[in-house]
Amino acid sequence: MSEIKATNIHWHEGNLTRQERWEALKCRGATVWFTGLSACGKSTIASALEQVLVQSGVPCYRLDGDNIRFGLNKNLGFSAEDRAENIRRIGEVAKLFADAGHITLTSFISPYRADRDAARKVHEEADLPFIEVFVDTPLEVCEQRDPKGLYKKARAGEIKGFTGIDDPYEAPENPELVLKTEGKSVDACVQEVIDLLQQRGLVVR
Ligand code: ADX
Repeated sequence: MSEIKATNIHWHEGNLTRQERWEALKCRGATVWFTGLSACGKSTIASALEQVLVQSGVPCYRLDGDNIRFGLNKNLGFSAEDRAENIRRIGEVAKLFADAGHITLTSFISPYRADRDAARKVHEEADLPFIEVFVDTPLEVCEQRDPKGLYKKARAGEIKGFTGIDDPYEAPENPELVLKTEGKSVDACVQEVIDLLQQRGLVVR
């Protein structure tokens, strides 16, 4: 769904450039896109990272897969089509937050490469940094953690089309960062992301 349905619409330019906004508000926007299996650690790492950044004065906002499905995306399920629409909307929302000057953290399984690449493209076309972080936790480990008991249900056939069990997960081929979480603390994972953001000049404080 990339074409525009509405006709007779016109882009209204604001009175500020992005640069003027970022300079006035002393911020800098970018999207950090966490992808990986359910229970791989995306939300835990993103939440901890958000806390560190906000507490050091960096505007940062987190968009979480489960949470967004309570509101904006409450009309979407887990078919390939609905997952694509889920990711399309979040790609667009993340772009807006990044444009507004926030370090925007998204934690969605986002199992399809094409959907993630489309989110990346939306950012690239808007000249906004897009950092894809593959939270690379083996399925066996995710399944062992199983904090919500969903793998157990999926194995018992009570959930159909569960990512990693009977639905695909396409790992990124060229992510900006591969985070191996096994045997690593949350703080260590957060530090790896911060190091990358600092190397790229996206976080200065
Ligand atoms: S995505 O595939 O469209 O990116 P998203 O990240 O929004 O998924 O939501 C995933 C979360 O929904 C999981 O962490 C899990 O709690 C829950 N969930 C419920 N059903 C499924 C399913 N069939 N596959 C994956 N996750 C599911």
